[in-house]
Amino acid sequence: MAAALILAAGEGTRMKSSLPKVAHRILGEPMVSLVVTAARQAGCDPIVVVTGHHAEIVEELLPGETCVRQQRQLGTGHAVKCAEAAFAGFDGSLVVLSGDTPLMRPATIAGLVEARESSGAAASLLTARMEDPFGYGRILRDEAEELVGIVEQKDLAEGQDSIDEVNTGTYCFDAAPLFAHLHRLSDHNAQGEYYLTDIIGVLRAEGLDVVVVETDHPEETLGVNTRVHLAVASRGLQHRINEAHMLAGVTMTDPGLVWVAPTVTLGRDVVLEPMTFLYGDTSVGDGTVVGPSSRVFDSRVGEGAVIDSSVLRDVRVGPGATVGPMGFLRPGTVLEPRAKTGAFVEVKNSTVGEGSKVPHLSYIGDASIGRDVNIGAGTITCNYDGVDKHRTVIGDGAFVGSDTMLVAPVTIGAGAVTGASSAITKDVPPGALGIERSDMRVVEGWVARKRGAAAEGER
Ligand code: UD1
Ligand code: CA
Repeated sequence: MAAALILAAGEGTRMKSSLPKVAHRILGEPMVSLVVTAARQAGCDPIVVVTGHHAEIVEELLPGETCVRQQRQLGTGHAVKCAEAAFAGFDGSLVVLSGDTPLMRPATIAGLVEARESSGAAASLLTARMEDPFGYGRILRDEAEELVGIVEQKDLAEGQDSIDEVNTGTYCFDAAPLFAHLHRLSDHNAQGEYYLTDIIGVLRAEGLDVVVVETDHPEETLGVNTRVHLAVASRGLQHRINEAHMLAGVTMTDPGLVWVAPTVTLGRDVVLEPMTFLYGDTSVGDGTVVGPSSRVFDSRVGEGAVIDSSVLRDVRVGPGATVGPMGFLRPGTVLEPRAKTGAFVEVKNSTVGEGSKVPHLSYIGDASIGRDVNIGAGTITCNYDGVDKHRTVIGDGAFVGSDTMLVAPVTIGAGAVTGASSAITKDVPPGALGIERSDMRVVEGWVARKRGAAAEGER
């Protein structure tokens, strides 16, 4: 099995950012995570990531991964050298990938390994033909079209800038000759760096074979160096992911306006309306409609649910439940099957039981709501006393009148009713009415008397 080394220590100066380049996100995922996932899906094991510039930020994005540090960023060749100890005793295929090439497909990585192993070459090298090769290292060949080496953009001699065959920064090496020759790289070049690309020339000069594999998916080799590239890569990944979902039975009214992270799973007959974002560890069940204008993060949404113009973060929505328009479901929210949270409703760390409804303009925080409960418009759980948070418990079949303030901790028993506009500060037993309201007065003839008095005063 091939091992993989992912280079992610660079600063990424051209991003003009305080964040290291590989930590920038595409569809909500850090670029470096996308590359690690591609290597893993290609079957690479072990996988080692070289970190350096803001290593702590990058490593935090990679829980459970093996990282080695490159203290000073002296070039891609030097980065590989820093990982040598991590591969002590390893002989076999070592894939080297750039942390800034987020669209690389697992099949391409596996193909590169296969090309090297089946030919017995010292390395295989992934290249692409580019209409605009500017910025990439170029592939140098002799008169017999044999590979000679790679020249970086900044080191190109006259006439070489028209070479459209570029190095994608993706390689598979036989580990032994790679590490045996790495010390021969020098930093005598335009950038004063130890270029990994020079190893290709070194291996060739030793008379060792290097197989060139040209990708038939040039878009996957895009190296992100600027925010413009970041946007192009986002668009490319969005297109690839959306196409796969549509072919698997998902409807997208306008796939250019739907953003689905690679970590998301979607059932059949899901409908995604425009301006919808599904990010993180999210799954959506069969026949659910999400959008327009919705953002769902790290959530489980059941079958046949409807999420309209709402934001959901770290929640569970049961089958047949409906949310929105303009709903805000925050972490710890659970909507049981067929529950409803309607327009301008915010819910946090609460369960809304099966078939229960919170239809309009409410805040539900730290509450447990049973089955078939109706929560009237404008109801608020007063869960915070300025120091601590308290729970509200509402039993099955209860009816909470409009504009009820539930001052927690408080319990409304099963089947109980609260009168509209009440501030409920004491528990209401099952089947009881809780009401807190001053008597209303009706003053007959008041308007006429008032106007009469006013007219009297004017005279
Ligand atoms: C590199 C290649 C170039 C290729 C291009 C493809 C070299 C010298 N050049 O150029 O031939 O066409 O990728 O995208 O390799 N990094 C480190 N430590 C360092 C320097 C870089 O870990 O000291 C990492 C960076 O974080 C990045 C990757 O290596 O993920 C590539 O570095 P970058 O500076 O982007 O190289 P390019 O100029 O794009
Ligand atoms: Ca790059």
